[in-house]
Amino acid sequence: MSDALLTVENLSKSYQGVKAVQGVSLAVAPGELLAMIGPNGAGKSSCFNMLNGQIKPDTGRIRICGKDTTGLSPERISRLGVGRTFQVAETFLSMTVRENVQLAIQSARHGTLSLQSFFGNLGRKSAAEADDILDLIGLLGEAGRSCRELPYGDIKRLELAIALAGDPKLLLMDEPAAGMATRERMLLMRLTSRIAKERQLAVLFTEHDMDIVFEHADRIIVLNRGQVIAEGPPVDVRMNADVQAVYLGSGALYKQEH
Ligand SMILES: Nc1ncnc2c1ncn2[C@@H]1O[C@H](COP(=O)(O)OP(=O)(O)O)[C@@H](O)[C@H]1O
Ligand SMILES: [Mg+2]
Repeated sequence: MSDALLTVENLSKSYQGVKAVQGVSLAVAPGELLAMIGPNGAGKSSCFNMLNGQIKPDTGRIRICGKDTTGLSPERISRLGVGRTFQVAETFLSMTVRENVQLAIQSARHGTLSLQSFFGNLGRKSAAEADDILDLIGLLGEAGRSCRELPYGDIKRLELAIALAGDPKLLLMDEPAAGMATRERMLLMRLTSRIAKERQLAVLFTEHDMDIVFEHADRIIVLNRGQVIAEGPPVDVRMNADVQAVYLGSGALYKQEH
């Protein structure tokens, strides 16, 4: 794909002899949602962690926005326009929703933070920017609340707001809806999809709920034991014999029709 925002070629990673990822290639275009699925241990998180710089690949090339990012640190990759969902850390729960997004904006822009920047002019500017993001995500009404008071679903939306704070071009979401109820998972993915289309964001995500994957992914890539076994539009992947064999008996591919 020549206009891809993210291109991955022949990515591999082993841990003490365990071949976690073997020769994975993929591409994601602006505005496109690519779902990476596969059973537990298939190598999805290992792929994400190579893309975001947390671990270094044994082989392969990663290009983001036309730049070779293979082996770069998470900080440098983030500054190139890559947002990722994190669990809101315990220490940040005492802050307000707005403050969390402000911190994310400032750290994306300046790397480190000072109290001066947080409370001075920069602080006021970032508060306004944070409110724009919270408005987009539907959390503006909760901006002044302490995160500790938020229901779990709102915390997960805040994690998306934080990922969007650096105005990324690529979003990496490894199980962004973990622990959420089905209806809320669906809403979070719908929101992500809407924002991706509006802002022409490239999104790579994992999600266990196949209903959500089949409804929101533009394309799906399926991993099994570290290797790509299928890739394509949802209808093709659902009909793929290898994919059906991997999910056989789980019923995951046929839970509900929408
Ligand atoms: N840090 C690690 N050390 C050793 N083995 C690991 C490590 N991380 C993952 N693995 C192994 O690599 C394989 C892929 O894991 P992972 O990427 O987490 O898969 P998934 O996210 O699809 O569940 C599994 O066999 C897992 O046990
Ligand atoms: Mg995982």
